[in-house]
Amino acid sequence: MKTKMKKYDNDIEVCNLTHSYNINGKLVEIFREINIGFKKDSITSIIGPNGVGKTTLLNIIAGFIVPDTGNVRIRGVSSKEACTQKKIGFVSHDHGLLPWMNVFDNVLLTLTLNRKSNYHNLDEDESKVLQILDQLGLVDWRYYFPYQLSKGICQRVSLARALVLDDVILILDEPMANLDELTREKLRYDLLKIFSLNPRTVILVTHNITESIQLSDFVIVLSNQPAEIVKSFEINFAGKNNLDKVIVPTSVEFNNINNNIRDLLHEKNS
Ligand SMILES: Nc1ncnc2c1ncn2[C@@H]1O[C@H](COP(=O)(O)OP(=O)(O)OP(=O)(O)O)[C@@H](O)[C@H]1O
Ligand SMILES: [Mg+2]
Repeated sequence: MKTKMKKYDNDIEVCNLTHSYNINGKLVEIFREINIGFKKDSITSIIGPNGVGKTTLLNIIAGFIVPDTGNVRIRGVSSKEACTQKKIGFVSHDHGLLPWMNVFDNVLLTLTLNRKSNYHNLDEDESKVLQILDQLGLVDWRYYFPYQLSKGICQRVSLARALVLDDVILILDEPMANLDELTREKLRYDLLKIFSLNPRTVILVTHNITESIQLSDFVIVLSNQPAEIVKSFEINFAGKNNLDKVIVPTSVEFNNINNNIRDLLHEKNS
């Protein structure tokens, strides 16, 4: 008999999260009562000023930091369990590639480490790696070692390592921070193509308003410390569901939301 899996509207539920750090003997409240639901297969960007607590929030969601109060459920289990069950892919601006492995092997290693059963087919894994390297424009770099690559390329390899995994929640902390503007624009399009072929639930922290709008189904704006959610925007004219339309960052819809986010960031953080 088949076991019925429970379906969740939201892949990730963040409930009443509050967190403080002890900074030089003083308890500083980073955020207060944060509640967010991240819909299955949606891309949500989080945008807010430096030091507001975005990385801390991602670390709590990924189970690396235990919050003071509140909790996180990922597909119905705690972050810690989700980590153990290998349901989370995390990319930060620090690429974390293994220096003694070339690009291909760094990506392949992720598949090896995240294998959920004893069964594995090396040919299948290798062609999967080649496919993701191709989708991210990295095939020509596959035999290079991290020390031979620029920071931007390393960052793309780090993205490839997370994207090669199926059925994981992706938590991306400024994964394009080191890229030049044109590469960044191209990568946005590549990512949207990848997500339209293979939808995932993605949380993306970025400082780039254009990027947040172009990539996302939802954009969440955070205020200054203690951080609160100022506003959540639903974007229905860009993102992976509108690949057929050229995303024009000068459209009226784009400009309205862009100005709105900009004004909120100025207003709440000045
Ligand atoms: N381990 C820690 N111990 C004490 N304070 C910390 C620690 N980690 C972060 N902080 C402080 O918490 C605040 C939020 O840090 P965090 O890195 O989460 O912000 P952020 O929004 O990701 O910033 P940025 O946009 O610069 O990446 C900052 O003031 C930082 O100094
Ligand atoms: Mg950060």
